[in-house]
Amino acid sequence: MFKSSTMILHFLALGAFVFQTECYFSEEKYPEESKMQPPTVVIAIIARNTGHSLPYYLGALERLNYPKDRISVWAATDHNTDNTTAILKEWLTVMQKYYHYVEWRPMDKPTSYAGELGPKHWPNSRYEYVMKLKQAALNFARKRWADYILYADTDNILTNPESLNLLIAENKSVIAPMLDSPGAYSNYWCGITPQGYYRRTAEYFPTRHRHRVGCFPVPMVHSTLLLDLRKEGMKKLAFYPPHEDYSWPYDDIIVFAFSCRAAEIQMYLCNKERYGYLNVPAKPHYTLEDDRLNFVHVHLESMIKKRHISSPLFYPPPQTNIPVCGKRDLLGFDEIYLINLRRRADRRDRMLFSLNELEIDVKVVDAVDGNALNSSDIKILGVDLLPGYYDPFSGRTLTKGEVGCFLSHYYIWKEMVDMQMDKALVFEDDVRFQANFKRRILKMMQDVEQVELDWDIIYLGRKQVNPGKEEPVENVRNLVMADYSYWTLSYAISLQGAQKLLNAEPLSKMLPVDEFLPIMYDKHPNEDYKSHFPNRNLQAFSAHPLLVQPCHYAGDPQWVSDTETSTLWDDDSVRTDWRGSHKTLKGAAPAPEMLSVAYRDEL
Ligand SMILES: *[C@@H]1O[C@H](CO)[C@@H](O)[C@H](O)[C@H]1NC(C)=O
Ligand SMILES: *[C@@H]1O[C@H](CO)[C@@H](O)[C@H](O)[C@H]1NC(C)=O
Ligand SMILES: *[C@@H]1O[C@H](CO)[C@@H](O)[C@H](O)[C@H]1NC(C)=O
Repeated sequence: MFKSSTMILHFLALGAFVFQTECYFSEEKYPEESKMQPPTVVIAIIARNTGHSLPYYLGALERLNYPKDRISVWAATDHNTDNTTAILKEWLTVMQKYYHYVEWRPMDKPTSYAGELGPKHWPNSRYEYVMKLKQAALNFARKRWADYILYADTDNILTNPESLNLLIAENKSVIAPMLDSPGAYSNYWCGITPQGYYRRTAEYFPTRHRHRVGCFPVPMVHSTLLLDLRKEGMKKLAFYPPHEDYSWPYDDIIVFAFSCRAAEIQMYLCNKERYGYLNVPAKPHYTLEDDRLNFVHVHLESMIKKRHISSPLFYPPPQTNIPVCGKRDLLGFDEIYLINLRRRADRRDRMLFSLNELEIDVKVVDAVDGNALNSSDIKILGVDLLPGYYDPFSGRTLTKGEVGCFLSHYYIWKEMVDMQMDKALVFEDDVRFQANFKRRILKMMQDVEQVELDWDIIYLGRKQVNPGKEEPVENVRNLVMADYSYWTLSYAISLQGAQKLLNAEPLSKMLPVDEFLPIMYDKHPNEDYKSHFPNRNLQAFSAHPLLVQPCHYAGDPQWVSDTETSTLWDDDSVRTDWRGSHKTLKGAAPAPEMLSVAYRDEL
C-alpha cells in the first residue's frame, strides 16, 4: 500500500517535470470545467377566457424545476370576456423579475371573433388568429436564439415539476407529454386519415392507459409541446401561414402537424410519467364545435383554493391530487352519456342519484338549449328543415327545442366518430330504470357480442308506434328488430352506427331525432321524408322488454317536455301550441287512459 503510493507520486513528479517548460502552473490543481447552464427556453402562453384555470396553470409553470433565469415568457391574451387579462398581468408583473425576460401582449378589444357563436365555437377567423399568435411566439423564440420553445394551452396543468427536464432529456425535435384526463381524451392521435382527420388505431387506448409506455412517434400531438429549435429541420416549421400544399381542415393543430410532416420532422408523445392534466371548462359544458375540450371534467375545486401572494411562489401547489381514471363502471361501453338541459338540474340530480346507486359512471352532457338558440344561430350551424316536414298532429314544423335535442344527440355521435369509440350508451335525463337494469344490459350486450351481431343502434327505451310483434333476434334473449319507434330515451350505439348517422348529413334536412332514426333504419312510413336519405341501412334493434321507461307521462303533473315548450325553429317570436301534438302522444303512458288527461301547458 505504502509502496505503490510512493511509486505513483514519483511518477507524477516525473510527469510534472517533463511538462514544466510548457506549463507554468503544473504543480497547481486545475479547477474542473464549470458546468453547462441549462438550455434556454421560451414559454409561450396564449390565454383566452381561461380565468378559471389560469391560477392553476400559472402555479404549475412556477413550480417547474428549471432555473427561471433561463426561461423567457411570451404571453398573449385577446378577445376576453372574463378576468384573464387581469390575472395574467398580475402574475407577470410579480414574476418578471425571476424570469430572464417577459413579453406581454394583451389585446382587450374586440371580445369576440367574426362569426363566433360562443366561447367554444371556432370559426376560421379564430383558428387563424391562434395560428398567428403561435407563429409570433415562434418568431420571438427564434429571434432570441432560444434553444427550446414550450407551448402549453392555458387549460393544461403540468403538475409534474420535472416535466420540462424530462421532455428535454428525450432529445426530440417535437415532443409532447401525454396529459391525463378522466376519460379517453388526451393530447395526441395515433393515426391520421389522408384528409387530416383523426383515425382510430389499435395503439390509442393501450397508450392512453399506459399499458404501452415510452416515447412514441405519432402523427399528432397538440396542446402542450416542446420544440427543440436547435435542430436544423426546425427552421422549416410554421404555424402560420399554412403550408402551400395544405388542404386539410383549417385548424391550428392540424396545420402544425402537416407542417411537421412536410418538413420531415417526427412528432413524439411520451407517457413514461404523469406530467399533468388536460383541463376543462370551469363547469362541465357540452359545446357545439370544440371537440378538443368537450367532456373533459377535471375537478379543479380539489386543487388550489387560496392564493398566497406572500409565499415565494405566487400560486401555491395543489392541496390534493386530482382524481384521474377512478373506478368507473362503463358496462363495457367506451362512454356513457347523460344528456341534460342545464336548467333542468332537478332531472340531472335525480338521474345521477340513480346512476350512482347502480354504480354506473356517466358523462353529463349539457344539452344544446333550444330556447337559447335564435334563428340566426341556427342558420350559422347549417341547420335547415327537412323540406315538407310538419308534425302530423299539430300541423306545426320543428321547434327550437327539437333542434336543440337533435344537436345534442348529433354531437355525441360526432364525438364518438372523432374519438373512434367502439360503442357508447346514451341516456336522456327523464328515464326510470327497470328492475335489474344493470344485470340485464350486461347480459344482453354479452349475447350480442357472442353471436357477433352486426348492430348500429339498440334502443333500451322507446315507444313502439304500431302495436304488433317484432322479429326476435336469434340467440339473443330479449332483443328484437326495431320497427317504427318514437323517443330516444336511451340507446346503445356503435361506431359504425354513429358514422352512418353522420354520413346522412342530417343537420341540413332536420326533423325530430326520433323520426330521423326510423328513417335511417327504413321503417318510417313517410316516403317523402325517406327520399331525402338514400342510405337507410341502419341496423336497429330494441331491448324487449324495454330496460328503461320515461319517468313522467303526459298528464303527470310533473311532466314537462323540454323539446316541446319552445318556439318554432325559424321564428323567434311565435310560440307553439302544443295541444294535440303527437309529441304529447310522445309522452304517453303505456296505460291508454292516461292519454286522455289534458296535457299541461307549462308556459
Ligand atoms: C380579476 O383579477 C384581478 C387580479 O387577480 C383581481 O384583482 C380582480 O379582483 C379580479 N376581478 C374579478 C372580477 O374577479
Ligand atoms: C440529440 O440528437 C441529435 C440529433 O438530432 C444528436 O446529434 C445528439 O447527439 C443527441 N444528443 C444526445 C445527448 O443524445
Ligand atoms: C343570436 O344570438 C347571438 C348570440 O348567441 C347574438 O350574437 C345574435 O345577435 C342573435 N341574433 C339575433 C337575430 O337575435
